Amino acid sequence: MEALVIEGGVRLKGEVLVSGAKNAVLPIMAACLLTDGECVIRNVPDLRDVRTMLKLLDALGVDIDWRGRELRLRAKRIKEPVAPYDLVKTMRASVLVLGPLVARERFAKVSLPGGCAIGERPIDLHIKGLRQLGVEVDLEKGYVIADAKRLEGSIFAFDKVTVTGTENLIMASVMAKGETILENVAQEPEVWDLVEVLKKMGAKIEKLDVNAVRIEGVERLSGFEHEVMPDRIEAATFLIAGAMAGEEVLVRNAIKEHMVAVLTKLSECGVRMEFLPEGIKVYGCDRIKAVDMETFPYPGFPTDVQAQYMAMMCIAKGTSVITENIFERRFMHVAELRRMGADITVEGKRAVVRGVKKLKGAPVMASDLRASSSLVLAALVAEGNSKVSRIYHLDRGYEKFDEKLRKLGARIWRVKEDA
Ligand code: EPZ
Repeated sequence: MEALVIEGGVRLKGEVLVSGAKNAVLPIMAACLLTDGECVIRNVPDLRDVRTMLKLLDALGVDIDWRGRELRLRAKRIKEPVAPYDLVKTMRASVLVLGPLVARERFAKVSLPGGCAIGERPIDLHIKGLRQLGVEVDLEKGYVIADAKRLEGSIFAFDKVTVTGTENLIMASVMAKGETILENVAQEPEVWDLVEVLKKMGAKIEKLDVNAVRIEGVERLSGFEHEVMPDRIEAATFLIAGAMAGEEVLVRNAIKEHMVAVLTKLSECGVRMEFLPEGIKVYGCDRIKAVDMETFPYPGFPTDVQAQYMAMMCIAKGTSVITENIFERRFMHVAELRRMGADITVEGKRAVVRGVKKLKGAPVMASDLRASSSLVLAALVAEGNSKVSRIYHLDRGYEKFDEKLRKLGARIWRVKEDA
């Protein structure tokens, strides 16, 4: 296993290029199962989760040709529409093959993903939606068995907003007979990046009022070429790094329209930013104000930036209350931040953060993807050295995170550590 050693107190300066969005590229990769045509995906980030999705697509019989940032996929035929537990358990997003396999093969056997560090992560709404489309879904020995001989367009409203649930149902319905209306769909930009791809493939998808879509089923879909959108969560992570530890950092190709809630919150905290054609420039802020924050589905403040925001509140002036409304266990980073001298108390879905003058470097342990980035941010401003262990979590969703920080002047090294 590997760890990151970080020497705190170094000011960041320069520019960083945001990679392709993890949560866009994963559903787009799964969409290749909907056609036997060639699918060309550009701006693909080199992430553990991308590699895991490729292992799954390979097991399903997809031809793969990955050169640098360009990925060519072709599902001429599906070897066997089964997503095995040993792959799905390592990455919950594997469940995104369920919708495409139902649409293409009219059958799918996909392992239930199981919970993870941040919550139970059920897929009951995915299943309810598929049943509404006429799919017979049984749960057997930890697997979802979907028999879609009678797949047919229908209407379905999600009880809760679910990003991959929305993506799965849209992909399941693009080749269903007739029309499907989905209500209370997720609005995340990554969902619309997938919809753009599906429309390039020939799918008939229309955005209705604020959070509904209408899909007219078609006979077949063709291949596509698409450039993945930049990762707004990575961009937010670097903006917070710049606010906490910067002189100044230009976050190149950050799209401000995808991050209005985060940018608003940073401005409320007194962080100075410039919106430039090439991206967003952020200036280091010595007097970060403590400001309350709540996570919500898009366009609200993203849960995937909650841990990073908390790291910034640890050194803010004053006390802030952070409310995590999306996942029931997304405060795993709190205990580790406390080891660095943070003053945080958790009461249910709320964390009360009292800003301290200085954090102290310490050995800490990553528990999930975004928690690991928040520990790195805290270590950048702590007094002395820190060591963040189990950074395989970080490598799941950030491309060359330590290398990008080193280029900004951070004193950060990747080291081997025994298991
Ligand atoms: C997606 O996960 C993202 N992953 C997550 O990013 C992100 O945190 C999450 O959306 C919320 O924005 C990908 O897109 C690959 P949900 P997803 O279904 O789709 C409940 C990261 O760090 N729910 O929107 O799994 C669920 O328990 C990752 O990049 C049900 O109850 O999340 C949660 O409380 C972490 N039943 C809430 O809805 C269901 O059937 C939102 O979950 C589905 C979800």
